[in-house]
Amino acid sequence: PLSLGVLASGNGSNFEAIMTAIERSALKAQVNVVICNNPGAKVMERAERWQIPRVLLNHREFTSREALDQAIIRTLNQHDVTWVAMAGWMRRVTQQLIDAFPDRVLNIHPSLLPSFPGLHAVQQALDAGVTLAGCTVHHVELAVDSGPIIMQAAVPVLAGDTVEQLQARIQVQEHHIYPAAIALAAHGDSRKNAVADLAGEPLC
Ligand code: GAR
Repeated sequence: PLSLGVLASGNGSNFEAIMTAIERSALKAQVNVVICNNPGAKVMERAERWQIPRVLLNHREFTSREALDQAIIRTLNQHDVTWVAMAGWMRRVTQQLIDAFPDRVLNIHPSLLPSFPGLHAVQQALDAGVTLAGCTVHHVELAVDSGPIIMQAAVPVLAGDTVEQLQARIQVQEHHIYPAAIALAAHGDSRKNAVADLAGEPLC
């Protein structure tokens, strides 16, 4: 069974999209635990509403990245997690975490990688003057926002777009492709480019 652990730092709209896809059987999975590093993050309220176990691991209370990631690995193992989905997880990860779930740590990023990794990706895209922006789900490697790409979706950048407007347009697509990319990576669904299918149809 695909037992997910979700790592999130903030709002949690991608967590919500994963839960909704599971609810309508578009993604055959369960979320065993949500781990958050920020007290008061909205994702914790969302997890409570879905009755998903929640664990706060406040990075400020750890002496190193390694110590935080050890606690994360322990928590994921305690909850029998087999795949890890970083959904707005705004911490760099260590090789330890990647090695604990080989080829089973995924991330979503609000750009068409390899363009614009790191912080403020949407602002970076606007500053660069690109006319296509988007989002990427990829396997996690050590360098920030890098690793083999699983799925991407593109959106137009419109004249006069603010960061908020472009971000909102990208997030609509994030919520489509993240559940689909998890299904693709975990279940080997072959409809890699069938983004149009994602709204209604079961993927696996
Ligand atoms: C998403 O747009 C995600 O792509 C981004 O944070 C947002 C979280 O939104 N992640 C990164 O920038 C990772 N480098 P959410 O909390 O509503 O899912």
